[in-house]
Amino acid sequence: MGPIGVFDSGYGGLTILKEIRKILPDYDYLYLGDNARAPYGTRSFDVVYKFTLEAVRALFSRGCELVILACNTASAKALRSIQQKDLPSIDPAKRVLGVIIPTIENLGDISLNGNIGILATPGTVSSGTYDIEIAKFFPKFRTVSKACPMWVPLVENREYDSPGADYFVDKYVGELFDEEPDTDTIVLGCTHYPLLLPKIEKAVAGRARIITQGKLVADSLADYMRRHPEMDAKCTRGASVTYLTTENPDRFAESASVFMQQPVKAEKIQL
Ligand code: DGL
Repeated sequence: MGPIGVFDSGYGGLTILKEIRKILPDYDYLYLGDNARAPYGTRSFDVVYKFTLEAVRALFSRGCELVILACNTASAKALRSIQQKDLPSIDPAKRVLGVIIPTIENLGDISLNGNIGILATPGTVSSGTYDIEIAKFFPKFRTVSKACPMWVPLVENREYDSPGADYFVDKYVGELFDEEPDTDTIVLGCTHYPLLLPKIEKAVAGRARIITQGKLVADSLADYMRRHPEMDAKCTRGASVTYLTTENPDRFAESASVFMQQPVKAEKIQL
């Protein structure tokens, strides 16, 4: 038995963990941010896969039976390989879940005209995962994906509410509407982006609905636990959260306390 592992390249997964804890407050959670190697979004397939597998192994070795990749880039580039190639030899009873399918499943109820805009990291966009998966669920929908390479660095460096961030928020949102002015739904396909939400809302100015992933992933995890009582029974319930980072733990704790709106302590690990 063990905590539920939540992994991201850095701080972004906290936007998922926060929502998961609102809906599933009783479980224990072990968060791992690979801040020393963030951002992942500009890295190659092989590197994202290698880093993600190392993180998953680290969470498994600390007792997790279930790990959520609270990172779209890792979900797009590493999830399938880990599920199909690695889990059978590591431990076929353990599970790794991602954040992309829980997000896409819900779009049918949200978009009125089927024009979906996706804002994500260069890695997620170039993987084509959102376009491919949306086409499977909703064959009539049209997608426009825009890479926002400057947004994760703004969040990792705590510049997400600085005046300088407005330029890059307006730039990528503007490019999306230039390509498809009729976009009615925008998916924030990176877990870091909700930290920029006030600025993104200002730039979108009511032209489209903005979809963040936290609540969707949390609902999907609750549903998963209901459907998998054998996994549910292996996840401990002490309502605790332990934070691990690959960078300076004091800096992580300070930033995470702001994001989580509660005091956070962090431990440094090496992957
Ligand atoms: N939070 C990650 C995501 O959802 C990405 C970050 C990164 O580029 O490191 O894609």
